[in-house]
Amino acid sequence: PIKKMWGGRFEAAGDELVDNFGASIGFDQAMAKEDIMESLAHVKMLKATKILSATDADQIIAGLEKLADRLAKEGLPFTVENEDIHMNIESLLTDEIGPVAGKLHTARSRNDQVAVDLHLYVKERLPRIIDLLVGLQTALVDQASANVTTVMPGYTHMQHAQPISYGHYLLAYFQMFQRDVERFQFNMKHTDLSPLGAAALAGTTFPIDRELSTELLGFDHPYANSLDAVSDRDFALEFLSNASILMVHLSRLCEELIYWCSYEFGYVELADQYATGSSIMPQKKNPDMAELIRGKTGRIFGDLTGLLTVMKGLPLAYNKDMQEDKEGVFDAVKTIIPSLQVMTGMIKTLRINRNRMEEATHHDFSNATELADYLATKGIPFRQAHEIVGELVLKGLKTGTNLADIPLAQYQEINPRITADVYKILKPDMAVARRHSLGGTGFDQVKQQIAAAREVIDQN
Ligand code: ARG
Repeated sequence: PIKKMWGGRFEAAGDELVDNFGASIGFDQAMAKEDIMESLAHVKMLKATKILSATDADQIIAGLEKLADRLAKEGLPFTVENEDIHMNIESLLTDEIGPVAGKLHTARSRNDQVAVDLHLYVKERLPRIIDLLVGLQTALVDQASANVTTVMPGYTHMQHAQPISYGHYLLAYFQMFQRDVERFQFNMKHTDLSPLGAAALAGTTFPIDRELSTELLGFDHPYANSLDAVSDRDFALEFLSNASILMVHLSRLCEELIYWCSYEFGYVELADQYATGSSIMPQKKNPDMAELIRGKTGRIFGDLTGLLTVMKGLPLAYNKDMQEDKEGVFDAVKTIIPSLQVMTGMIKTLRINRNRMEEATHHDFSNATELADYLATKGIPFRQAHEIVGELVLKGLKTGTNLADIPLAQYQEINPRITADVYKILKPDMAVARRHSLGGTGFDQVKQQIAAAREVIDQN
């Protein structure tokens, strides 16, 4: 076994099993770029503050730039012996420029280093995720524009409740994804902070310039407290909880797509690219991608629960437990990005069976509220109107008669002020159109929501 970078106070050689168990290079190599960026900022600060001579610093800078270049072009050879990304990069730097590489770690610890790397990693990905969310929002608003007057049953308890505009339905998801956008935007506030210069936990005796390294790293400002800087993983927890809430939204949308494309519903049909066949049943067109997004929700919740649990009992400051912070974050990034992309494509290419949706509102009693409201406008107290309509529904269910099929004479027995205009309000599209209340499903309201949504998208 090679001599460890921290091996001075040890006598015995390492144990291979233990070294493998302790190493994080298997996954933290995903932050290789961030680690080199961090080192570059650090050494430039060491040079500016004259903690390192310009000659030494320039050699280190040149070596790091060479490594960045090699990483981009062909990747770098990492080893478990070097334990983690930080010591692997330092070791490769030593191969490039010799022992002067050892000066890079002046006034720095892996504790502030790893925190910087993870901050950079999340910071770079937040805008990408927000962009993808905006793409999905745009797809939803476009579909809503094309479906303002598409009428479908609205459900509560999965029972037909009142007819709604399908555009209105889509805009409900737009709003959920808008809150996701805002949560990820806020996530940036706690991510855009520099832990660099906290060193191991207590700061350093070297005359470092944390403002400068913060600026060189492109962070908004430095952490105010060195203990907090190396112990804080709130930004990662916030990221994972935002990702979890996002997955809740995606999963709910998927759930509806899945049963809406069933034979029984037939409200929508997925484009072929977003469906799969069966190896045995030739007729099948399965909504696998929607199921997979719904399924991946589980792993994101796992990532969040995992990190919450890792952090909950940790004393200040750094503890090796925190090495377990990274894989969940990487996994969440790797999961939510393609989930958003696939969902956007699925919505863009979704075929809507408008007739089938509308048809479903014609043979139900989802216009019962319309009739009760109508009776109330004729002076019958709403409670009583509700009772009257309830009885009509019960009778109708027994005799197979819809509210619209009840003859006028029979309505007039209930109240002589009922006139033929009752049949107009019983029509499902009228039930939708007349809901002019702010944020309601009325076609005029849906159009206003679309206009407002487009403005929100422009500002995201
Ligand atoms: N690989 C470590 C991690 O991911 C880096 C920090 C190690 N620091 C330490 N004192 N052992 O957390």
